[in-house]
Amino acid sequence: ADPEPVQDFCVAAQRGSDATASLAFPGLPCKPASTVVSDDFFFAAHARAASTDNPAGAGVTPGNVEAFPGLNTLGLSLNRVDLAPGGVNPLHTHPRAAELVHVEEGEMLVGFVSTDGRFYSKVVRAGESFVIPRGMMHFQYNVGAAAARAMTVFNSQLPGVVLAAQSLFGAEPEVPDAVLAKSFQVDAEIIKLLKSKFRKG
Ligand code: GLV
Ligand code: MN
Repeated sequence: ADPEPVQDFCVAAQRGSDATASLAFPGLPCKPASTVVSDDFFFAAHARAASTDNPAGAGVTPGNVEAFPGLNTLGLSLNRVDLAPGGVNPLHTHPRAAELVHVEEGEMLVGFVSTDGRFYSKVVRAGESFVIPRGMMHFQYNVGAAAARAMTVFNSQLPGVVLAAQSLFGAEPEVPDAVLAKSFQVDAEIIKLLKSKFRKG
């Protein structure tokens, strides 16, 4: 979905160096080609599992252009998703990319809701894939007895993520209780309970 590159590569310059004075679009400023090395095209962070020791039982290791500068201008990126048994990568959307979920271990229920309110989902097992169209609300839920792992591939170097619960109930400053209560058709008490789980401090 990102703009087409107009050169072989543009390894993103490190933040703070002279070249990063401005955050240009498309992509980030390029490192001088004379200083580009093989390691700029290599990314090892997905060799390790992320901790799933949290209330959701999920760990996502991002592999976007901020983590992997060699992706700059190339229009793609990937995450690793680790889920404990019963763990869920909670409902979220990506404003700038479709997402291909490729399960490598275990079994996950993967699903999204379309703009007309239809819920599409499948139990996806090792070696199988499911695609989430751009911008759709989606999740992965470990329905197996063991740990599960997927790689998620995006057609953007920086897909962005809007976590549903976190953005609504954890925003800083807070979204007014009255707005949330009317939006969800519940009492303000329920909104306060949800905010207590997602707001810091
Ligand atoms: C999974 O949905 C991910 O965004 O990595
Ligand atoms: Mn996602």
